[in-house]
Amino acid sequence: MKENIVLIGYMACGKTSVAKRLGEILQRKTIEMDDIISERSKMSIKDIFKIYGEDYFRDMESLVLKEALSEKGNIISCGGGAVIRQENVLMMKERGFVVLLSAKPRTVFERASKNNERPLLKGKKIEDIEEMMCLRRPLYIKSADIEIETDYKTIDEIAAAIINEAKKNKIL
Ligand code: S3P
Repeated sequence: MKENIVLIGYMACGKTSVAKRLGEILQRKTIEMDDIISERSKMSIKDIFKIYGEDYFRDMESLVLKEALSEKGNIISCGGGAVIRQENVLMMKERGFVVLLSAKPRTVFERASKNNERPLLKGKKIEDIEEMMCLRRPLYIKSADIEIETDYKTIDEIAAAIINEAKKNKIL
């Protein structure tokens, strides 16, 4: 079995759903980093941010990523901020095929307004989201092997596009 497939991208770009679908299609283990962090801490991501702060969350995030990448063939769905730390980016690039899922700020705003579990999106307007996406964009671009735009695509279409690209890149 070859490399891991690592999904990165801004919040609410579909990483979780796409990773799950890829796992089903490819019969691979799917690792949802935020779920592991939440299970280990026995609290929601929202509460981890509130009680322990972002740095604590980022430390756990790096640790969970390292563990996920120590295996082969996993489908890893990263939290949107996993690319903030350079050490994480280096690990991803070394041990995985890094797929950036992107979406327009309006799509993110509409998807995110359906749940309030994301501390960094709480009370944010489209313009705030756009600003944060612009700041993050260079980090995502630097980290990614390929980019897939997700606006107007179904989960199955996105999964198929990733599989296609992975085959072209001899990952599958
Ligand atoms: C974050 C994204 C979230 C979660 C945390 C921080 C970020 O994950 O890890 O709220 O900094 O972009 P999703 O991208 O899965 O929403």
